[in-house]
Amino acid sequence: MSRKATVSAPSNIAFIKYWGARDLDRAIPTNASLSMTLDICRTTTTVEVLDEAGADAIQIKSDDGALTPAAGAFNERFTAHLGRLREHLGFTGRIQAATHNTFPSDAGIASSASGFTALAYAVSAAFDRVDSPEEMSIRARLSGSGSAARSTFGGYVTWPSDPHNPESPAAQHAGPHIDLRDVIALVQHGPKDVSSLEGHRRAATSPHFATRQERLPERTRRVSAALTSGDFAAFTEALEEEAIELHLVAMSSTPPILYWEPGTLEVIHRVRQLRTRDGVPCAFTMDAGANVHVICPPTSEDAVAAAVSDLPSVHGVIRDRVGSGPRHETEHLF
Ligand code: DP6
Repeated sequence: MSRKATVSAPSNIAFIKYWGARDLDRAIPTNASLSMTLDICRTTTTVEVLDEAGADAIQIKSDDGALTPAAGAFNERFTAHLGRLREHLGFTGRIQAATHNTFPSDAGIASSASGFTALAYAVSAAFDRVDSPEEMSIRARLSGSGSAARSTFGGYVTWPSDPHNPESPAAQHAGPHIDLRDVIALVQHGPKDVSSLEGHRRAATSPHFATRQERLPERTRRVSAALTSGDFAAFTEALEEEAIELHLVAMSSTPPILYWEPGTLEVIHRVRQLRTRDGVPCAFTMDAGANVHVICPPTSEDAVAAAVSDLPSVHGVIRDRVGSGPRHETEHLF
């Protein structure tokens, strides 16, 4: 058995969003979702198994190499995931772990999908128990982060919502596909005020939630078809409709959640201008946060990055692309 393992796992951006749960504790979604796995935005995690009693210890590694003990809510969620993995895999022993994100921690980019997927893989690897991406999807989702269920696959990924088979793992979307880029415009400093977990909890209180559920299957089909046909205009229409509707539901929940910042609207308007006035194919989407993901074909990437970088409220841009999923790393974090 290998005692120490390091894995890096990608984040993902949902084109059709998981928002609302049948069972929030087990992250059983009300609706199916569809995402693109990213390449650059990733979490690397090293896990070491120690044959001794005691508490698990988690550290965060910064870009300059310093290791700091994890604290607060992050430490709690991380430790809880370790506890569920311990139960699921049936192992004993104390875990020592360290984790590092490729993107700045105060950038407002959700790191739970990449973080919990990397942890599920690294623990499994330390016990030589890495399984199929489907089984790993279930292990990543044990964290309570539904989006983590999709990060175990590369490419484009669907995560079903089947009341008869609620634990269904994610699956790779059948290709061939168009190549897409994700230019992430950072407008948010620090973490968002309301967690996704709380957002899921409130979702069904919105008067628009039921209508959203009715419209989603048809919208998902449109996104899915556009990914294979390459009809970027059809993709744009469905993607933006979905992004706005997610936030419509959040804003009309009780109590309401407002994730947008002034910079969110600034980027949205710039994207629409770029497309309609300058003829640059590009489309916006947002997760449960203020940052805007501008999805575009490779030929639009430079123009999009230049246009959003120039906006006063954009404090950084990450240029990402569709990626290939988790991978074992040879260099350990400690
Ligand atoms: C809006 O419960 O997976 O991003 O654990 O914070 O990543 P985190 O949230 P999770 O909900 C994700 C909500 C979403 C849409 C999506 O990614 O499907």
